[in-house]
Amino acid sequence: MIQKQKGCNDITGREAKVWKYVDSVIDSLMEKYNYNYIRTPIFEATELFHRGIGESTDIVSKESYDFVDKGGRSITLRPEGTAGVVRSFIENKMYGDPNQPIKVYYNGTMYRYERPQSGRDRELTQFGMEILGSDDPLTDAEIISASVNLYKMLGLKEIKVNINSLGDNESRRAYREKLIEYFKPHIKDLCEDCQERLEKNPLRILDCKVDCDNDIIKNAPKTIDHLNDASRERFEHVKEYLDIMSIKYEVNPNIVRGLDYYNHTVFEVEAKVDGFGSNNVLGGGGRYNGLVSQLDGPETPCVGFATGIGRIVKALELEKVKLPIVEDIDLFLLYVNEDEKKYACYLAQELRLAGFIVDTEYTGRGLKGQFKQADRLNAKFTIVLNSEDLDNNEVKIKNNKTKEEEIISLDVLIYYLDEQLASMEDDDECGCGCHEDGYNCDDDCDCTGDECKCENKEKHHKKKGE
Ligand code: HAM
Repeated sequence: MIQKQKGCNDITGREAKVWKYVDSVIDSLMEKYNYNYIRTPIFEATELFHRGIGESTDIVSKESYDFVDKGGRSITLRPEGTAGVVRSFIENKMYGDPNQPIKVYYNGTMYRYERPQSGRDRELTQFGMEILGSDDPLTDAEIISASVNLYKMLGLKEIKVNINSLGDNESRRAYREKLIEYFKPHIKDLCEDCQERLEKNPLRILDCKVDCDNDIIKNAPKTIDHLNDASRERFEHVKEYLDIMSIKYEVNPNIVRGLDYYNHTVFEVEAKVDGFGSNNVLGGGGRYNGLVSQLDGPETPCVGFATGIGRIVKALELEKVKLPIVEDIDLFLLYVNEDEKKYACYLAQELRLAGFIVDTEYTGRGLKGQFKQADRLNAKFTIVLNSEDLDNNEVKIKNNKTKEEEIISLDVLIYYLDEQLASMEDDDECGCGCHEDGYNCDDDCDCTGDECKCENKEKHHKKKGE
C-alpha cells in the first residue's frame, strides 16, 4: 500500500471543516485590514531562498527541498512565503504603484525537510501577511495586532505575545561583535553547528535547537541592551502603538527568529495551553528592511508575519474552542423505486439551488438503512418520497428531532423548510451554535455584546444578560 510521505498530513472529516473555517476567518480579517490576496509559485529558483533567508539558517542549510529540473535549473520548494512575495514585488515593479504601502496576504503550503514531530511537519500550511514600502512603526504594530486579532477572532485565549528588537544595521554590527567576544571562550562546549556559526552568523547560535537549554546561550548578551538611540526610540514607538490598541505583550530579549532577514522589531506568539508540547510557537514575524535591496530591488522597508494553520487547529482543539461549523444537513430524501429516485434527483436539485443542504441515497440501501444514514448525517428533516403522495403533489416531511410528521403540498415545501429551520435556530441558545461560553469574547467579557463577533450576538447576549 502506498503511504503518505513522512511529515505530510491528510486533512479530512471534521478537521478539514476546521481548516476551512480558519481560512474563512483569515479572509474576513484581511478584508478588514485591507490586504490583497497574493498567490506566488510553490517552487522558485534556489538562489532566491539561499540569498533571501540566509545560507547559515537551518531552513536553508538543512531543511531545503532542492532539486534540479529536466531543464537543468536549480529549483527549491518554498520553505516560507516572504521571499516569494519580495521576488514578486520586485519583478512586478509593485514599488512603482502609487498605492503605497503594498499590503498582501497568502495562505498556502510550504516545505521544510525537518525531523517530523508533533507541530513540525515537512509539508506545512502558512497564512502570512506582509507590508512592503513603509518604515512607520505603526506598521510593525499593525502586523502584531492583526496576528493577535486573528487568534482572538478564532476564540483562542491562551496565547502570549513576545516582542524584541534587533535594531538597525549599526546596532546589529555592534551586537555581533559582543556575541563573538562572549561565545569565543565557551565555543568548545557548544554543538558543531554552533562552532561553525560563531564567525559566520553568531546570532544563529541563540536559536540553536540543540543547545537551547545550555546556560551559555541563556546568559548571552541581549540585543535589547545593545540598541543605538534611534533603534531604541523606534522600538518605544512600536510599544506605544501596541498599548494604544490594548495589545498585551512581553518584551522578551531571547526572541531572535530563525531567518537572517530581520532587523528592528521581531515577535512570536506562543500557545500557552497545556499539552501543546515544545513546538508551541503559533506564529512569528518582524521587520526586514534589507531584503528587497538584497534581492536586487530598490531600498524598501518591510514588515510581516506568518502562522502555521496546523498549529492553530491544534490550539483550537486543545483549548476546546466551540466553532460555528456546520455538522448537520437540512434534509435527507429517501426513496424506494426508480421513479421516486428520479424525483429525489429533481427535488434535491431544486432545493439545493434554493439554498438548503440536501442529501440523498446513493448506495442502494433499503428504507431502514436510509433512515440510519439520515441520522448519521444529522438530518434535521427527512422525506420518504412515495409515488402516491407525489401523484397528489404532496410529501410527508418528518422533523427528525421531534419525530413529528406533516403532509404538505409540494408547492409550499421551500417556504415550509425556510420557516421551520428559522424557528429551530431561534430555539438554539446561540444561533451560531458556538457561543454559550462566550468563546468569541475576551476573558473578562461581561456579555454586554460589545466584544462579541457572533452574527447572532444581540439575541444571544440578551439571553445571557437576562
Ligand atoms: P517562521 O517562524 O519560520 O517564519 O514560520 C512561521 C510559522 O509557521 C511558525 O510559527 C509555525 O507556526 C509555522 N511553521 C514553521 N515551520 C513549521 C513546520 N515545520 N511545521 C508546522 N508549522 C511550521 C516565517 O516563515 C517567516 N516567513 C514569517 C514572516 C513573514 N516574517 C516576515 N514576514
